[in-house]
Amino acid sequence: MVGAAPRVFISRPIPDEVAERIRRECTVDMWPASDPPPPLSEKIEDVDGVITYGHERLTAEAMDAAPRLRVVSVMGVGYDHVDAEAAGARGIAVGHTPGVLDETTADLTFALLMAAARRLIPAHDHVRAGRWTLFDPNILWGVDVHHATLGIVGMGRIGYQVARRARGFDMRVLYNRRTRQPEWERELGVEYAGLDDLLAESDFVSLQVPLTDETRHMIGAEQLARMKPTAILINVARGPVVDPEALYAALQAGEIAGAALDVTEPEPMRPDDPLIGLENVIVTPHVGSATVQTRMKMANMAADNLLAGLRGEALPHSVPGG
Ligand code: DGY
Repeated sequence: MVGAAPRVFISRPIPDEVAERIRRECTVDMWPASDPPPPLSEKIEDVDGVITYGHERLTAEAMDAAPRLRVVSVMGVGYDHVDAEAAGARGIAVGHTPGVLDETTADLTFALLMAAARRLIPAHDHVRAGRWTLFDPNILWGVDVHHATLGIVGMGRIGYQVARRARGFDMRVLYNRRTRQPEWERELGVEYAGLDDLLAESDFVSLQVPLTDETRHMIGAEQLARMKPTAILINVARGPVVDPEALYAALQAGEIAGAALDVTEPEPMRPDDPLIGLENVIVTPHVGSATVQTRMKMANMAADNLLAGLRGEALPHSVPGG
């Protein structure tokens, strides 16, 4: 890069060695702590590039107030918080980090599924509260995972990895997505199902769709009512895919048996959110890709995108159509 070093804002701390890579070519302003940074619009007015690592909203208006901005690098696969169309119209490149987090997020999906099925949190609480005073054969009964039916809604790369894990548990796997994938059916033995059938037949329903206008609240009262009263809903996709009020009502009414959520609406979930007060709900704070190995890969990919964009090169991992 010739001339003055480009200026970059990074919205959350990223691993030191990756930040160092960026500092070799850029002047970096990295938000120092995990506290929420100010709105991006206040930090990007005079930067050439930004790494967003915390779902901060980036609107067309904020882009208009950032005349130097050339590249937005999302450290994550989902970029629903960035108006990518507006960026494209303004010649701003948008990148993200697909692929590297698929298996890690599928691991968490399975961890939540298992935890909910086998009641791991109440079991742990039972011991911690000093109630393990005898072997009681009649407490903490869960449900079997092996040979149960798993429904994957929006089976893409992460759903594919969830299905591979389900195979090891001899589960029957139903999947739903816009286009049927006959090769996955042959390879993994998964069965295509319409959404209504998938909801009605599954013991576990795992959501893996991106957040779009079509998927916002796609799981509402009507869909929850179709599920089995013994079914467990797992959401590692985006909180607003599920209508939280309908979910609370369905759990209260026993229309479904439980929910395990890594994403919520709103995020962060407030401590007094009615859902967290329910015994049959597990919530984790949006940690689907949070492993040492994966976060390092994501940081490097985000840096690759940022630096390529600042050099005027095509981003190695551009968002679709970006
Ligand atoms: C993703 O990659 O989309 C995760 O939700 C983290 O942003």
